[in-house]
Order: sequence, then structure tokens, then C-alpha cells
Amino acid sequence: MLNEKMEDALNEQINEELYSSYLYLAMAAWFESENLSGCAGWMQAQAREENGHAMKLFKFIHERRGRVTLKTIKEPAKEWKSPLAAFEASLKHEQHISSCIDSLMNLAIAQKDHASAAMLQWFVNEQVEEEAHVDGIVQKLKMAEKAPGALLMLDHALGERK
Ligand SMILES: [Fe+2]
Ligand SMILES: [Fe+2]
Repeated sequence: MLNEKMEDALNEQINEELYSSYLYLAMAAWFESENLSGCAGWMQAQAREENGHAMKLFKFIHERRGRVTLKTIKEPAKEWKSPLAAFEASLKHEQHISSCIDSLMNLAIAQKDHASAAMLQWFVNEQVEEEAHVDGIVQKLKMAEKAPGALLMLDHALGERK
């Protein structure tokens, strides 16, 4: 059984993950408007992954006989100054999500809720990967700023993501 505090906190996280999905979909739409279809495709794949994260929590809450409650998803930004600015915003967002996951893990430990802690460990590892991945793209975009044509090559490479 999930206690009420953990149930509320996991429901909040579902909202965070759905917002993440919405944010990346907004970035995908903006990249399409900038004719960077590779970056747009990467963001669409990211949006799908975030939806998967929300559904992982959705499933877990039900497995623990909890109740999922869906809340309003806030409106994401519509445009960014540059591809670098968009990926930097993405990195900042992932750092925020990592701190949310850390807080959830702290709660699970405080409540001696081993089942939630074991499930959350997956998210801890996932955040390490996500931050590293986005940071890698930010670093490449910084290099591309000084090399004409590099952005197009990077866009092509990012478009390879399934
Ligand atoms: Fe996520
Ligand atoms: Fe993420």
C-alpha cells in the first residue's frame, strides 16, 4: 500500500513528467518552424519518452493500490532564441526533474517505503543519462556556433534518433 503523502508526491511527479513531454513537444514544434527537422525529431522522441515516464508512475501507483489524479499541465514556452538556447532550457529542466526525483527518494527513505525507493532508483539512473545526453548536445551546439555548416550536420545526426 502507498501512504497518502507518497501517493500525492508521485501524482505530482506524473504532472512533472507530462509537462516535460509537453515542453519537448513545444520545442519540436519550434524546431520545425526553424526548418531543423532533425532537432524536431529528437524532441519528439524525447516527448514520447517523458510520456513513458509518466505512465511508469501511473502503473506503479495502481500496482500499490493507490489512486492516480491528473492535474492541469502548465503551458510551455513557444519559442527560444536559438537551438542552443532550447537545448540549454532542456538541460535546466532535466536538472529540475533530477531534484524532484531526489526529493521523492528522500521521502521514500524517510517513510521506509522500499518498494517506492526501488522503483525510484530507475528514475535516478535515468536522470543521470538524460542530463549527460542533453549536456553533450549543448556542448556540441556551442562548438557549432563558430563553424558554419556544423549546425546542419548536427541536425542531421540528431534526426537519426529513433
Ligand atoms: Fe522524465
Ligand atoms: Fe527527462
